[in-house]
Amino acid sequence: MKTLITNIQELLQIRDASINKVSGVEMKQLPSIKNAYLIIEDDRIADFGKMKNCPVIKVDITIDASGKVVFPSWCDSHTHIVYAGNRVFEFVDRINGLSYEEIANRGGGILNSAKKLNETSEEDLYEQSKVRLEQIMQQGTGAVEIKSGYGLTVAGEIKILRVIKKLAENYPIKIKATFLGAHAFPAEYKDNHSGYIDLIINDMLPKIAKENLADYIDAFCETGYFSVKETERIMEAGKKYGLQAKIHVNQFNAINGINACVKHNALSVDHLEVVTDEDIEALKNSDTIPVALPSCSYFISIPYTPARKLIDAGLPLALATDFNPGTTPSGNMNFVVATACIKMKMTPEEAINAATINGAYAMGISDTHGSITIGKKANLIISKGVSSFYQLPYEFGSDLIDTVIIEGIRIK
Ligand code: NIG
Ligand code: FE
Repeated sequence: MKTLITNIQELLQIRDASINKVSGVEMKQLPSIKNAYLIIEDDRIADFGKMKNCPVIKVDITIDASGKVVFPSWCDSHTHIVYAGNRVFEFVDRINGLSYEEIANRGGGILNSAKKLNETSEEDLYEQSKVRLEQIMQQGTGAVEIKSGYGLTVAGEIKILRVIKKLAENYPIKIKATFLGAHAFPAEYKDNHSGYIDLIINDMLPKIAKENLADYIDAFCETGYFSVKETERIMEAGKKYGLQAKIHVNQFNAINGINACVKHNALSVDHLEVVTDEDIEALKNSDTIPVALPSCSYFISIPYTPARKLIDAGLPLALATDFNPGTTPSGNMNFVVATACIKMKMTPEEAINAATINGAYAMGISDTHGSITIGKKANLIISKGVSSFYQLPYEFGSDLIDTVIIEGIRIK
């Protein structure tokens, strides 16, 4: 099956196969071809170039992209979209003055979602979650990482990971699974942290590894959640099963967790709403990528990750949604990109790099996703008519996506 896209006003994010992420000043460059064509063969990008060099070939479908920009679909490297019910009442509680911490302290928050999830069947959880997956695909996401972490029991965590596996089997979107048993301490382990970590390491992890249900391991490294030492235990245990770490860290407090994550060769450190100079030093010359989640900052009114400070220090940065019921009930990467430009002072070029090639790196798939490269997956967004790609973050909140193609299949 061959598809030819013609007359593309601008084809963005053209990269050599050797580029797996971009850092520092490189993030300001978004290589492109004006007046371009692109050919898809089955699920891959087969060819692209200047329209004047477009080969005359027989194709099954031709799409005229006059006045439109084409770029790689979003790579959302941090979500929790497999959850049960929602937390709308906590949303209203926060409007009425309670903080995220106060809600969590009275049994709400993650424990509230865990209770609902453990009462929900695997079939029902799948049905609820697939709606969110279909929604993000419509919004242009072509690859997504999904975490467990709302089970906090052996059965609950495995239930989530099985749902993630089933979603991956049934949809064309690339899905990476992360085991986040260390998301919070269940009430019965409130005063027995090592007991719960033992359960994660000795019970959950072997079962998850045996069923091959996870690609990565995560922990919420934060005051009141998992200490740096406890997070290190989790990272070390994951490593034994070949699970590299992607860690929630520096969301509310800087507790020197980033240094530990780098030491343990974490693939990514996510959140970083608070960042110290020591954290930045730790990340320099490492392979660990920081991931910012601006929709979370927006929704719970916490500081935005200091993107300028990180990028100007020469670091790479990825952008993701954090789609979850508590801090970010939205999986819209278009909003993330716009908010990064508006609130974090990232240029549109930097934001698109962060949401495509760097997002792919943060979930370990930049050899197949995140750029317009011959041989990579044909995961594309075709915009509506725009004057330039700057219009995408500029008209924040508008739907400027005309077509979404995932692995060669037209989704929208
Ligand atoms: O990434 N910070 C930890 N975990 C999620 C929120 C969890 C929740 O409130 O349900 C996050 O923001
Ligand atoms: Fe998260």
